[in-house]
Amino acid sequence: MARELGIELHNLVAGYNHNQVLKGIDLKVKQGEAVGIAGLNGAGKTTLFKVMLGLIPVTEGRVSVLGRDLRTGIDRAWARREIGYVPQQTTPGKLPVSVHDAVLMGKWGKGYGFFRKPQHSDHEAVGATLKRVGLADLEWQDCRKLSGGEQQKVSLARALVRDAVILLLDEPTTYLDRNFQIEILELLKEIRNEGQLTLITISHDPAHLKAISDRIYQLDQGSLQVVNDESD
Ligand SMILES: Nc1ncnc2c1ncn2[C@@H]1O[C@H](COP(=O)(O)OP(=O)(O)OP(=O)(O)O)[C@@H](O)[C@H]1O
Ligand SMILES: [Mg+2]
Repeated sequence: MARELGIELHNLVAGYNHNQVLKGIDLKVKQGEAVGIAGLNGAGKTTLFKVMLGLIPVTEGRVSVLGRDLRTGIDRAWARREIGYVPQQTTPGKLPVSVHDAVLMGKWGKGYGFFRKPQHSDHEAVGATLKRVGLADLEWQDCRKLSGGEQQKVSLARALVRDAVILLLDEPTTYLDRNFQIEILELLKEIRNEGQLTLITISHDPAHLKAISDRIYQLDQGSLQVVNDESD
């Protein structure tokens, strides 16, 4: 059975003011596929995710998520609800909230919102997701006391708890020590093998990308080239 498209970029040009970082990107990722994106610092990898999330305007070309073109603000807000996003970690979060509440935020716009309080099922989903990422023991810990690796797991849990069908991971392993890297990679492999989620991972580590991707692209000079395709 032919799979539906998860994300499609067609001749995409985008960037900041007069700096067009992405200069004609074509990409098709089907639902359930896992692709990796490599590229030097400043190549535009994070910018590519911002486009998929509808966070920066597109100068030319087309972005579609789950077959829906992102044209209006409503389309872009809808795309953000469908996508789980693990941002590139820069500094550890300083939010004075528990791990449970930090992950519950991932349900915003899905399980609860302005007019609906979190339900029992939302809290249960948080507990189950924390177990999955190995943070069950820290559920009621203050987020400010977490290590960088634990923070990264909270970020992953927040993206997973949304029940998103697309997961964008920006350097999910970069600042982690080896044990944490292995744990996170194993979890991502498991998610990939379940085949339900479309997984797009940015990483500087070719071995990590290889471990969890069907196909790897290099972003260079504003365009994407396939460097490795194991799906043929
Ligand atoms: N908010 C912004 N305003 C203006 N320019 C920006 C902004 N964010 C990024 N840029 C520029 O866009 C280019 C691409 O940045 P981007 O963050 O996408 O790179 P990257 O590939 O993710 O790099 P890294 O590997 O260091 O994370 C860089 O030259 C950067 O300076
Ligand atoms: Mg980046």
